[in-house]
Amino acid sequence: MSMQSAPIGNKVTVRTIREMKGVEPITMVTAYDALFAGIFDGEVEMILVGDSLSMSFFAEPDTLSATMEQMLYHTKAVCKGAKRSLVVFDMPFGSYTHPQQALENAVSVYRETCAEAIKIEGGREKAETVRVLSENGIAVLAHIGLMPQSVRAEGGYRIQGKTTEEAIRLLEDAKILEEAGAFGLLLEGMKSEVAAKITEAVGIPTIGIGAGNGTDGQVLVWSDMFGFFEAFKPKFVKRYLDGADLIREGLRRYREEVKSRAFPDEEHSY
Ligand code: KIV
Repeated sequence: MSMQSAPIGNKVTVRTIREMKGVEPITMVTAYDALFAGIFDGEVEMILVGDSLSMSFFAEPDTLSATMEQMLYHTKAVCKGAKRSLVVFDMPFGSYTHPQQALENAVSVYRETCAEAIKIEGGREKAETVRVLSENGIAVLAHIGLMPQSVRAEGGYRIQGKTTEEAIRLLEDAKILEEAGAFGLLLEGMKSEVAAKITEAVGIPTIGIGAGNGTDGQVLVWSDMFGFFEAFKPKFVKRYLDGADLIREGLRRYREEVKSRAFPDEEHSY
């Protein structure tokens, strides 16, 4: 028998997330529009408006094409649906190349949307940016490990923390980012043992994706977990629904009924 959690009753804030560390695993999924954000709202603690939308919804080969304008547009839509879950804005590639630019863009996120936190990719090299953002009242989720915005510079996606040197560097980065003021860490594509060590070593919550079961929470891209994105399925993705198959089945039934004139029937006619 599968255990189903009750919907979340109260508005989730950054403080709620911080207080969940060591108490209860945190759930996060992506959303890009009001319709799905409304369905996900209150079912998970956090909703990430991820730049993954470039891949899942624009069929781009990577996330690098996402712009501030697009991310703001999608976040405004998500905000219409998300009333209880905490909305996190994913800063797109090129929008936080230096602290001042990051601050200006993050201020526009807070001014124009309901997002209560922003996410940026980068280790110690982004510590100053995290510090400036945090000192100016912006909550930062710092994303380390496999960083999709570095895919072209790295020449592909590669699981991190496989060597002792890499593991030590990740652990140091995590501590530096915590010290700089990050309210949480997103750990992507790394050896489970390394993610678990980081989680033990820091006082802020860690959210994992492809980082094993030792983190404080998990995040998945909704179109992956519900089987709508079919181009490929990374090992870490668990499919909780066969969404694309369900849609095709519904469409076929609709098509058959239109062709046979079974739809619309009396019930659906005026
Ligand atoms: O853009 C995104 O959806 C993300 C997740 C993969 C964490 O950054």
